[in-house]
Amino acid sequence: MDIGIDLGTANVMIAVGNKGVVLNEPSVVAFNKKLDEVIAVGDEAHRMIGRVPDYISVVRPLSDGVISDHKMTEKMIESFIEKVTGKQLFMPNIIMCIPSSITDVESRAVIEAAKIAGARQVYLIEEPVAAIMGAGVDISDADGNMVVDIGGGTTDIAVVSMNGVVAKSSVKIAGNRLDKAIVKYVSSRYRILIGEKTAENAKMAAANVYSPDGSRKILVKGRHLVRGLPEKIEVTDYDIYEAIIDSVREMIAAVKDVMEKTPPELAGDIYRNGLYLTGGGAMLYGLDRLMSSELGVKCSVADDPLSCVARGTICAFKNIDKLLDGFEHVSMYK
Ligand SMILES: Nc1ncnc2c1ncn2[C@@H]1O[C@H](COP(=O)(O)OP(=O)(O)OP(=O)(O)O)[C@@H](O)[C@H]1O
Ligand SMILES: [Mg+2]
Repeated sequence: MDIGIDLGTANVMIAVGNKGVVLNEPSVVAFNKKLDEVIAVGDEAHRMIGRVPDYISVVRPLSDGVISDHKMTEKMIESFIEKVTGKQLFMPNIIMCIPSSITDVESRAVIEAAKIAGARQVYLIEEPVAAIMGAGVDISDADGNMVVDIGGGTTDIAVVSMNGVVAKSSVKIAGNRLDKAIVKYVSSRYRILIGEKTAENAKMAAANVYSPDGSRKILVKGRHLVRGLPEKIEVTDYDIYEAIIDSVREMIAAVKDVMEKTPPELAGDIYRNGLYLTGGGAMLYGLDRLMSSELGVKCSVADDPLSCVARGTICAFKNIDKLLDGFEHVSMYK
């Protein structure tokens, strides 16, 4: 049994060789401090946020692309792997995709956790490499392809050819940053403080970063900053555009930088093949059209962009011997 894990800052997704994605849950852990044990992970822990007594802590152990809590990250990985493998006798090979900003020490901790959960061998793969394979692109040819994976914490950009990464970059401008920008805009424009979850919903329902025309809108609830009472207002695609367009342009500038670092032959390939958008942020309304027009290259959203990385990890198993950069055989389970 081969298991692929996308350890995202927002969601963890696990895919299994012959079945595809088998687990998709938020990266949250609930921990009993008195008994020193995990009581819930994923969906179950997510429901407990803000509803637990003091001796239980509910945490997001990976926030903004860094591991803020080592122990909880390990516990979370162990629990998720156990959930998928059950009490089987075979030890699985595990391939993991971890946030690109994680340090070496942090990745050791993640590898250890996978071993404790019973991995025979653990491999690490870089997020954009998995993402582009999950988008259905064959990266073994001498043909350049480019992917932009927009998650919650980071946007990872890479040009891949012959199973290796030719140019890459990772910036901390992604979903969470856009949500924060919306919170800030609504509080300064309407004097209403909204939560980040509300801002995220507004982004999904009412964003239009290409051609806002007032047709996409949503009612949001928050607390008035002066009156202190709950209030609701309608925000439109014009508002969301104002709030997030600067961040979106920064993201596009980062893509342009990578294009400029790409050798000319490969740049020609990308012009022909187009650019693939993956990760949840790829679904930002109008982003594909805005990027296409700004970069002069066709940009298309991959099928089911949220699960590209998890599906890509499974594709990676098939080419494990051939993958060069972006791919690191880590260790054997003793
Ligand atoms: N329809 C949508 N429009 C805009 N953004 C969306 C949409 N759907 C999901 N997102 C955003 O996608 C992000 C989550 O994407 P994803 O699950 O790929 O992140 P992740 O892999 O957990 O994070 P990272 O790769 O940074 O570790 C969230 O910020 C969410 O708001
Ligand atoms: Mg991701």
